[in-house]
Amino acid sequence: MKQIKLPTHLALIMDGNGRWAKRRFRPRAYGHRMGVQNMFRICTHAFRLGVRIVTVYALSTENLFRPKEELNELFDLIRSYFTKKKDKLLEMGVKVNVIGDITVFPPDIRESVLNVMDETKALTEGLFNICLDYGSRQEIVRAVNIAVSQGRFVDEASFSALLSTGSLPDPDLIIRTGGELRLSNFLLYQAAYSELYFSNKMWPEFSKRDLEKAIENYSARDRRFGNVREGTT
Ligand code: FPP
Repeated sequence: MKQIKLPTHLALIMDGNGRWAKRRFRPRAYGHRMGVQNMFRICTHAFRLGVRIVTVYALSTENLFRPKEELNELFDLIRSYFTKKKDKLLEMGVKVNVIGDITVFPPDIRESVLNVMDETKALTEGLFNICLDYGSRQEIVRAVNIAVSQGRFVDEASFSALLSTGSLPDPDLIIRTGGELRLSNFLLYQAAYSELYFSNKMWPEFSKRDLEKAIENYSARDRRFGNVREGTT
């Protein structure tokens, strides 16, 4: 990849697993399985390129209303990647942090999630945030309630610190696959000045080269954060 400006924090909305599978006359669960494999491939590539923080929207709070059968399949996938296939997560060599309300998961999943977070907590090569049962509006409301319960006013910095991303820098680039042009309750507060990139590819077919193209596109953008650049009128 040519000399480019990398995002420090990359966030991914991995959409299109179900449609990808359906087009191949396969069950949605197959799409999710291939989706998780691609998540490892793409996130590993992002860290190799030098991205420091990757945040993936793995399961939204709204996804939990999906039919029970699909939900069980998703839970099985999550269970498997935090237990039997845990090595895949450890192989990435980065700190794994799960964001979201994991109390909705069965106790064995909660335990294995905490175990992976603990086993990787000293790794400093990168940070891999996996959002599970995550919803941005819920996160904002929770942060407001914390501030209210402590009887204090907040400013932008102290409010950000109450969100689940804590003191992390905001995402520089958010990529959404699957052809939809929306954020779907993902990092709404943090995305105020994020650059957005939408791909028509379904998540399981989003390639390493597609990631590089998205980063090259980001690199060519002029980020002004509402200001003007020096030397422009
Ligand atoms: C979007 O595709 C994907 C999801 C709703 C879930 C993806 C989650 C996983 C694959 C599990 C993550 C697992 C680990 C180990 C972190 P979709 O079903 O909305 O696709 P569609 O829009 O084509 O229907």
